[in-house]
Amino acid sequence: TLSAKDRLLSSIRTIPDYPKPGVQFRDITTLLGNANAFATAVEDLAQPFIGSGIDKIAGIEARGFILGGAVAHRLCAGFVPIRKKGKLPHDTVRVAYSLEYGVDEMEIHRDGVKAGEKVILIDDLIATGGTAEAAVRLLGQIGAELVAACFVIDLPDLGGRRKLEALGVPVRTLIAFE
Ligand code: PRP
Ligand code: HPA
Repeated sequence: TLSAKDRLLSSIRTIPDYPKPGVQFRDITTLLGNANAFATAVEDLAQPFIGSGIDKIAGIEARGFILGGAVAHRLCAGFVPIRKKGKLPHDTVRVAYSLEYGVDEMEIHRDGVKAGEKVILIDDLIATGGTAEAAVRLLGQIGAELVAACFVIDLPDLGGRRKLEALGVPVRTLIAFE
């Protein structure tokens, strides 16, 4: 019988040359579509934090919403979305972050987390860490106590984990692809 890690690894589909030549895209739609793998991912993400009084899960658009929503339910925590600019209807704080080509901006509602609330940041994957770093800055601006940033997949060659750890954020990932 497969270990939890093997179950996750074998449920992720790799698409060569997407979205551009040379990239091996790790596609989690196959993980999400596999009841056993989805439950394993959610349980493993939540496990260290059960009973530790987490107030909110912050999920990053778009795949962080799916995993983060499920983890929030598992931990009896609230959920707060971090979105691409222009999507949130109430007062927001906004940060710019760099993508492979150019920059974009992300936002969170100013009242999405109350000062001092304990928050876990969730996304599917950390690559360069630019997206997660922007999310960490948004949470800091509204006074969240960020307990950890958690991802199903690490792409260690791209250095995102080190970038977050340099900001003092504990990072947890479930599996890695070189
Ligand atoms: C992907 C992924 C992470 C981010 C990681 O999202 O879901 O959010 O990239 O990359 P980074 O560590 O180099 O910043 P994407 O930007 O493709 O957005 P989407 O989920 O809305 O498609
Ligand atoms: N899969 C999904 N999202 C990503 C990837 C990947 O391989 N690389 C950067 N963002």
